[in-house]
Amino acid sequence: MAFRTIIEPFRIQSVAPLRMTTPAQRHAAVVAAGYNLFSLHALDVMIDLLTDSGTGAMSRDQWAAIQHGDESYAGSPSYDIFREAVQNLFPFKHVIPTHQGRAAEKILFTALGGKGKAVPNNTHFDTTRANIEYSGAQAVDLVIAEGRDPANPHPFKGNMDVAALDAFLASHRNQVPVAFITITNNSGGGQPVSLENLRQTSAVCRRHGVPLFLDACRFAENAWFIREREPGQQNREVADIVREMASLADGMTMSAKKDPMGNIGGWLALNDDALAEQCRNLLILTEGFPTYGGLAGRDLEALAQGLREAVDHDYLRYRIRSTAYLGDALAKAGIPVVQPIGGHAVYLDARALLPHIAPLQYPGQALAVALYETGGVRGCEIGTVMFGRQADGSETAATLDLVRLAIPRRTYTQSHIDYVIEVCEEVARNAKALRGYRIIAEPAQLRHFTARFAPLA
Ligand code: F0G
Repeated sequence: MAFRTIIEPFRIQSVAPLRMTTPAQRHAAVVAAGYNLFSLHALDVMIDLLTDSGTGAMSRDQWAAIQHGDESYAGSPSYDIFREAVQNLFPFKHVIPTHQGRAAEKILFTALGGKGKAVPNNTHFDTTRANIEYSGAQAVDLVIAEGRDPANPHPFKGNMDVAALDAFLASHRNQVPVAFITITNNSGGGQPVSLENLRQTSAVCRRHGVPLFLDACRFAENAWFIREREPGQQNREVADIVREMASLADGMTMSAKKDPMGNIGGWLALNDDALAEQCRNLLILTEGFPTYGGLAGRDLEALAQGLREAVDHDYLRYRIRSTAYLGDALAKAGIPVVQPIGGHAVYLDARALLPHIAPLQYPGQALAVALYETGGVRGCEIGTVMFGRQADGSETAATLDLVRLAIPRRTYTQSHIDYVIEVCEEVARNAKALRGYRIIAEPAQLRHFTARFAPLA
């Protein structure tokens, strides 16, 4: 690279306004929201880093594809265009569209889950875990030990602990209907899985006769990390790496709101004919006819085009470097962040930044609220608020108290990110003055979405 500046590999052709707010306005908004950033009105947020899911900008060619959408109930040609685009990267025999990733999970685990079953993964995402547990089965995380240590610089911290998987499958014979691997490992910091680890995971599953599925939301980012970091992969096309990843699995669930650049969408793909038929029948119950699933024909067309753009090298180079740009700047400013920097997000270590706030006083919440009040930046607490309430009603500290700054695809420019860096630096300078919170109202489940908080005196 001759130059230091990462330029966005696109020009902006259509813009949405971003409303400027003052600290006083943001304070009033967050008080009214019970200090829960999910309860804010999005117009009161300046830089929204709550999630990279469905928040990306579609391209000119995706908008053009939308005009091509065919809304026939059955046999829409838009489905064929979608299926071919999926199979070009993931050549599974059956491709079943759903309205988003969790719908694919619900269908698959309705077919395969149930009491007495167990599903291992590197780290289950919340909806995957919830859908497995809702079926009565057990969700088990088997990521390598390095993947649990925020400071460990291992290049593939999303890797499966293959020996632990082997032992688990041996001790749970006939109880594991499917094994999963999440690429990239979102709950573990957006960390990639190596091709070598996928090969070993696949071999172990095959030896035990257990099908392996990919939770592939961020497959292109994962493949780019493989190309950059894994010996011998440097000269390969990302699309080719993706096809090899697919060849190691028997199926996949997908949220098309991430790498495929959709604002909505997902799919379930697999090779097993009988299981596919069962899943299609379940699909008809809740999502729709198998040639549209939960989507409009125009959505299918937008996703087909988005998939082509997702594996473009210029795009991926920009995507991964610009996320690292944010993370590296924060680390340089002395703000503790999960290392290495992930693909879709930077994870701030709130517990390390705010050691004076006990985990049960929610340091992640304190940091997330401070980022919002200071600069209108909305991140997401991933810590004791999200995971602290136990099934028996007790409360314990989560393993980590993080704040995720997820980067929507192609949405913010480098100056927006420079602004985020300044806001984080300002909050870190005032870290000692931040106070913890207590929860004044919370629902029985998934409390982080709707709980209300009060600042501690
Ligand atoms: N799997 C992973 C790894 C995810 O990150 C998500 C969503 C899903 C499955 C579910 O997909 O939202 O389309 O139903 N992650 C979003 C996030 C919500 O903010 O990380 P969905």
